[in-house]
Amino acid sequence: MTSSRIAGFYNLPLGERLEKLAEAAGLDPADLAAFQVSGFSSEQANDMVENVVGVFGLPLGMGMNFIVNGREVLIPMVIEEPSVVAGASFMAKLVRASGGFTASTSAPEMIGQIQVLDVKDLMNASMKLLEHKSELLAEANLLDPVLTKVGGGARDLEIRVIEASPIGQFLVLHLIYDVRDAMGANAVNTACEKLAPHIARITGGRVHLRILSNLADKRLVKARCTVLLDDLAFKDPSGHMYTGEQVRDGIIEAWAFAEADPYRAATHNKGIMNGVDAVVIATGNDWRAIEAGAHAYAARDGRYTSLSTWGRDADGNLTGELEMPMAVGIIGGATRVHPAAIAALKLMGVKTAGELAGIIASVGLAQNMAALRALATEGIQSGHMTLHARQVAIAAGATGTLVDEVAAKMVAEKTVRIDRAEQFLKDRK
Ligand code: MEV
Repeated sequence: MTSSRIAGFYNLPLGERLEKLAEAAGLDPADLAAFQVSGFSSEQANDMVENVVGVFGLPLGMGMNFIVNGREVLIPMVIEEPSVVAGASFMAKLVRASGGFTASTSAPEMIGQIQVLDVKDLMNASMKLLEHKSELLAEANLLDPVLTKVGGGARDLEIRVIEASPIGQFLVLHLIYDVRDAMGANAVNTACEKLAPHIARITGGRVHLRILSNLADKRLVKARCTVLLDDLAFKDPSGHMYTGEQVRDGIIEAWAFAEADPYRAATHNKGIMNGVDAVVIATGNDWRAIEAGAHAYAARDGRYTSLSTWGRDADGNLTGELEMPMAVGIIGGATRVHPAAIAALKLMGVKTAGELAGIIASVGLAQNMAALRALATEGIQSGHMTLHARQVAIAAGATGTLVDEVAAKMVAEKTVRIDRAEQFLKDRK
């Protein structure tokens, strides 16, 4: 990888972008051929899910300018919403000046849950399970010798008593399982199911559910960034000038709103997930799992709050941090079946699931900053307007050069509506 900063990438014709990308990443353009729609066939889809009748395309845009842990990285993002790719890329450009994003991860430990019902003496059953801990962990480790060989496997057992539920008290066993570079659902679910009879014998209870938890709070990623105060200053399209201090403080005030209010936090975190999901999808990972984990983690203290934190350092620069669960893999599932996901992982050159997690969190943080900066200054609509106007023009029936022409007219008029687009098209006939 030479640099994730390719001057003029945005303005290149569509066909040339792929060539430039391959060149910058030191790849053959053929390695990225799967990014074209034809790279994923109905036949391939038919091997993935049931009742397939076709495939559904989404835009794949490139997150540019990113440096994560000192490494230049070009980031594929799959998303239908305008402004997300541009916003993240622009923020990554600002963060470059302070050396880029830094990211760290905890061990890739997932939690498998085993629900045990009809236990007569919960305390006694808990004690017995702890006595048999090493035996149960050893049994789990025999189930996946490949994972054990690469350093993964069962790490611990935690016992929880659910004190109050609609069916009263019961016992829950957490199997803590290091899944290394996998997302881990299959390994964990298999281990939970296989251990179930043994657990029933030990506790004298009835094992009910045996399933992974998506609140992967032992598999966390943290991304951090700093934006130099001077780089925050900008002039909006109407010519209004914002100082670095105004933008920095505006972002911190916007974050404080999300920190204190769940109504705002839901939207704030949605902005983070705009960036996160786009990379999760591009790499063939399970974005529902990531969404579920993110929001459950945001409510971990009993009140739903912001996943990110914004502040200032001793020199007055803006600092941001994002911490969230990140159960993504680079082996198994669609990551190794979907040709575009394979190409995406190759393009990013990620060697471990942890490295991918750090990249994803950096994009989430960049995207959060882009949204807060816009909201705290000119508002979100002006940036959205042109791209949104193009979509409205297309929906009204515009094609070819008419798309930009109709969009430009609506933006100039500050009325982006399908009836106006239809009228412009009619007037032109
Ligand atoms: C829109 O998809 C995302 C935002 O609403 C995020 C935010 O409000 O922080 C702009």
